[in-house]
Amino acid sequence: MLVAGNWKMHKVPSEARVWLAELKRLLPPLDSEAAVLPAFPMLPVAKEVLSGTPIAYGAQDVSPHREGAYTGEVSARMLADLGCRYAIVGHSERRRYHGESDALVAEKAKRLLEEGITPILCVGEPLEVRERGEAVPYTLAQLLGSLKGVEPESPDRLVIAYEPVWAIGTGKNATPEDAEAMHQAIRQALAERYGEAFASRVRVLYGGSVNPKNFADLLSMPNVDGGLVGGASLELESFLALLRMA
Ligand code: G3P
Repeated sequence: MLVAGNWKMHKVPSEARVWLAELKRLLPPLDSEAAVLPAFPMLPVAKEVLSGTPIAYGAQDVSPHREGAYTGEVSARMLADLGCRYAIVGHSERRRYHGESDALVAEKAKRLLEEGITPILCVGEPLEVRERGEAVPYTLAQLLGSLKGVEPESPDRLVIAYEPVWAIGTGKNATPEDAEAMHQAIRQALAERYGEAFASRVRVLYGGSVNPKNFADLLSMPNVDGGLVGGASLELESFLALLRMA
């Protein structure tokens, strides 16, 4: 089980320092893994505050390039040097606002694995696709396209996050049953891609308007292995509440 907070473009380093210190102070005993995923400038703060604690941290994106003249890019090696355990790739906001393709997402995932960082690979359908009844084939095509050439050495080196686009930041979460149906389909596709034993151990997270009211029901589904949380991960109280449930 993994509960990861995607801070998106929120907070600044000085706020993060206080927030993370409070998280550390108030952290309940954990049955599952907790991670925070702040924007790049906050990663040195995360390293400073969270090193030696059970709370993991990571990035929200990475360059598909290893090194070189790529102005504005951040490499997987830089993230590894900062102690990142995870990095998101293929978030729908990157796909939508930055035109990221499945092939690009796969390159990014490969760079992370080369540096020992676990990709949290996001997939999920927009509303019109769900309304057409094509959510499963759409999402699986995105999944397999984004995993092309991606060969994690073990199942703990890959995390999938199912984030239906219509549920992100809208207050409208997928029902636990709809999430479960998609997670099952994702696991089946992973089994065909990497084998049954591998797929059964990959964590498949749900993301999209997760909050302390709906999380327990989502987590009760057998194929939901945690959450990738946006808005509700920004407030300490609600993030702690989610951690207590997992
Ligand atoms: O990556 C997390 C995300 O996209 C969900 O955001 O605010 O709906 O929890 P939110």
